[in-house]
Amino acid sequence: MSEGVIVAHTDDIPDGEAIRIDAAVTGTVDDIAVFNDGGEFFALDDTCSHEKASLSEGWLDDGVVECPLHAGKFCLRTGEVLSMPATEDVACHRVIIDGEDIRLIPDPTRLAS
Ligand code: FES
Repeated sequence: MSEGVIVAHTDDIPDGEAIRIDAAVTGTVDDIAVFNDGGEFFALDDTCSHEKASLSEGWLDDGVVECPLHAGKFCLRTGEVLSMPATEDVACHRVIIDGEDIRLIPDPTRLAS
């Protein structure tokens, strides 16, 4: 049996862009942003840890997403916060590319109870 939930196909997300997957689909406490950065796919909690902006609407640059509201930056590989005004990391989720399917394996600590 394959792991995770299919949330999109690889050609649904152009290079440099992201989509937001509703928490009802992923079973998590937050929506999840799935990013295509140079053909590599990453997934983070969608809600910026500073205020409530959607990171799926942010800008991607070389492994980093910049929040669209106040320009806080987060590492796409780890969710680590990289710049102010954000000071807290966001959760990072596993992505598996299975043919053309993007499978998401949510961080177990972020599953809705
Ligand atoms: Fe993201 Fe402020 S809401 S940096």
